[in-house]
Amino acid sequence: MHMEFQPITAIAHPNIAFIKYWGNKDDVLRIPLNSSISMNLDGLSTQTTVQFDKALDDDEIFINQMPASDEASKRVTDLLDIVRGVSGMVTAAKVNSQNNFPMGSGIASSASAFAALSLAASRAAGLCLDEVALSRLARRGSGSACRSIPAGIVAWHAGTRDEDSFAEQLVPSGHWDLVDCLAVVSENHKTVGSTDGHRLASTSPLQGMRVTDSDRRYQRCRQAILNKDFELLADVIEQDSNLMHSVMSTSKPELIYWTEATLNVIHMVSRMRKIGLEAAYTIDAGPNVHVITLKETLNVVETQLANISGILHTLSAPIGGGVRLVALQAEPS
Ligand code: DP6
Repeated sequence: MHMEFQPITAIAHPNIAFIKYWGNKDDVLRIPLNSSISMNLDGLSTQTTVQFDKALDDDEIFINQMPASDEASKRVTDLLDIVRGVSGMVTAAKVNSQNNFPMGSGIASSASAFAALSLAASRAAGLCLDEVALSRLARRGSGSACRSIPAGIVAWHAGTRDEDSFAEQLVPSGHWDLVDCLAVVSENHKTVGSTDGHRLASTSPLQGMRVTDSDRRYQRCRQAILNKDFELLADVIEQDSNLMHSVMSTSKPELIYWTEATLNVIHMVSRMRKIGLEAAYTIDAGPNVHVITLKETLNVVETQLANISGILHTLSAPIGGGVRLVALQAEPS
């Protein structure tokens, strides 16, 4: 008897990096030049359903209920091809991916999207991958996606090849009451995305120094998290973010993501810390500022940020869990 393929749904959170990934040893396998550390963002998520279907000639990919662009479809199909290769099947799949955060919110969706896709696609193909194997698979879709597989605060060991480049949990979500308060200053799409940015990193004379010193920063960040030492965390994540943006701004062509409002937030965060408030900034490949704080300080931070000119709105997220399967309600027949 012919078995139908079952639809499988998975959900994953995006993450914000404390120690950044910027530049690869191998762009195709996405083996990074340095290890990184990030926190999953609770409340924000991508939910993805995958169903292999013999009636399809090609993969059909929908993102937020719209057919995906050619570029996005190719990236998804490339990941499905890896899954098909491992499971030995040749069938095309229908993929439906839905973010619960707006596209223009300044949160990159590639991490949560490829984490959810990796779990949904591998299970839909009959594979049962462990956390390390899932993380390695997600990494092939988007480097930072490997960090959205484990729960909590997560470390991605750079490694040197496919087998040893994966993420694992550093501490579970209940370890510390950290919150990411994202100050959205622009909802425009970034001009140069991360994938192209990684390829430009080596054109900056500062990249070698950033990478050479990365293990020291990684160890300090790890210690800060294990010891719940906010002062140390603030010091190291701001330096790491500034180093990445120094590389970006000295690449050829240069990548300058900051706007006037970005700087306004940086200055406000520095003032808050001077008066003893737990607040620290970190910025990805865009102008929006992630203000890391503690649950008990969040209200004060939000109030301070609301006074800054150029902030459109804020969005806050405590430490989130890892990727997981979702049992969908059966459609009424
Ligand atoms: C600045 O993981 O988005 O957010 O592997 O090409 O998909 P690809 O890049 P991506 O790069 C993330 C860059 C960053 C820093 C970080 O998250 O570590």
